[in-house]
Amino acid sequence: MLSWLIAKGGHDSWINPAKSLVSCMFFVLTSGSNMRERTLELMKKYPLIDGHNDLALQLRILHNNKLSQIDLHNVSNVATDINRLKTGHVGAQVFAAYVMCTAQEKDAVRLTLEQIDVIRRMCSEYQELELVTSAEALNSSKKIACLISIEGGHSIDSSLAALRMFYQLGVRSMALTHTCNTPWAESSSKLYSFYPRSNNSLTKFGKAVVAEMNRLGMIIDLSHSSWDTAQAVIQISRAPVTFSHSSAFAVCKHDRNIPDWLLHMLKENKGLVMVNMHSRFVACSDSGNISNAADHFDHIKKVIGAEWIGIGGDYDGASRFPHGLEDVSKYPALIQELLLRGWSEEELSGVLRDNFLRVFGEVERVRDELKGTIPAEEQIPFSEAANPCRLVLRPPKPVTLSTRNAPSHAQSGHAAVFAMVFAMLMIHFNPLL
Ligand SMILES: *[C@@H]1O[C@H](CO)[C@@H](O)[C@H](O)[C@H]1NC(C)=O
Ligand SMILES: *[C@@H]1O[C@H](CO)[C@@H](O)[C@H](O)[C@H]1NC(C)=O
Ligand SMILES: *[C@@H]1O[C@H](CO)[C@@H](O)[C@H](O)[C@H]1NC(C)=O
Ligand SMILES: *[C@@H]1O[C@H](CO)[C@@H](O)[C@H](O)[C@H]1NC(C)=O
Ligand SMILES: [Zn+2]
Repeated sequence: MLSWLIAKGGHDSWINPAKSLVSCMFFVLTSGSNMRERTLELMKKYPLIDGHNDLALQLRILHNNKLSQIDLHNVSNVATDINRLKTGHVGAQVFAAYVMCTAQEKDAVRLTLEQIDVIRRMCSEYQELELVTSAEALNSSKKIACLISIEGGHSIDSSLAALRMFYQLGVRSMALTHTCNTPWAESSSKLYSFYPRSNNSLTKFGKAVVAEMNRLGMIIDLSHSSWDTAQAVIQISRAPVTFSHSSAFAVCKHDRNIPDWLLHMLKENKGLVMVNMHSRFVACSDSGNISNAADHFDHIKKVIGAEWIGIGGDYDGASRFPHGLEDVSKYPALIQELLLRGWSEEELSGVLRDNFLRVFGEVERVRDELKGTIPAEEQIPFSEAANPCRLVLRPPKPVTLSTRNAPSHAQSGHAAVFAMVFAMLMIHFNPLL
């Protein structure tokens, strides 16, 4: 453009525009670098608490959870490592203990334990990281604080005792579903046909899970749950809930995002939506830019205000991220964009950190309020969670016949179920038994 001006104009006619162009560029550059400094100052003061990250999943996929094979400071083929968390001013990371929900009638509990193990190892073997289990420890950590969150209720295999034991291992948040329905809650996804339901968004047992999470002080995460289930949970939860990695449906019509009517309910609940950076959710396409991501923040702020907003990047869970937000080191670019859009430092300190601390603190306050309540003993009816992996500990009638009649090669679940049903029919129809 400058050469065009020089070529076209004479002496007098090009000097002035070129001069103003240069000074204008100078202004943009300096204000840009001031903005960058202001952003980094703010993030130093309020290091980000990121609500969702799937590095542990990648560690399983790429390294079979063998931490000794990698240096967590600098990991290839992922979007998260210690160096990049530091560059991104991430002060705390909620790590997802995620296992495929198709494991729910198989070994989901063991697989989940293995993911918790790898997160706990990661956060204790590296001196830059620290596992925390309370809002207070989270806020006062001088390291990158790690929180553990289970991603999907299938991980507890419909057992409140399993839920409690996960709490003992340091889990402080659980998403009620992933992309499968559980026997007691409904997913936003219709990808799998587990436990189909039309109007039973949260069963009696599902309500018991919510109450027990309130009692334990575990954050209820509604990302991945259907809107119906989310609504049912918000109506009964005594504590605020989160959507740990979901964006605004009004901006991008994806069923993983939150519609405005549900945002209003979330505000009533004093909960938190942690905006997801995945291109599919922010731009409704495989590509996107920082501006697309910022639009979700602007929209949610317009609908319910900034106090109920956080950030849950979904790095290493999703595959496509907006240009300029490719990994966890890029968060300052997002915060800078919000500053440019007129977000105040107070609003941003909330988005970065304080809103999550408030919600976690409130969840703990409800736990303290419920201190006198005994652990829930609710059990899911066998008919609601029947699957070949459940051993019938106390069958209604003696089962000696079923073992005698079972084919000796009954390896598969189908054969076992068939044998059991056959045995029950025998019991039912044989008056002598
Ligand atoms: C990370 O490791 C790669 C090689 O695996 C190297 O090229 C890169 O410079 C390293 N980055 C840092 C920040 O250490
Ligand atoms: C977190 O710690 C800072 C001081 O480091 C304090 O000013 C702030 O009130 C704390 N926030 C919460 C929610 O405890
Ligand atoms: C749920 O649907 C079943 C039929 O599938 C119906 O019998 C029942 O009344 C419905 N319950 C509610 C609360 O709508
Ligand atoms: C971001 O992408 C949108 C299309 O979704 C486009 O309209 C907009 O101009 C882009 N913004 C920037 C800053 O590149
Ligand atoms: Zn997810």
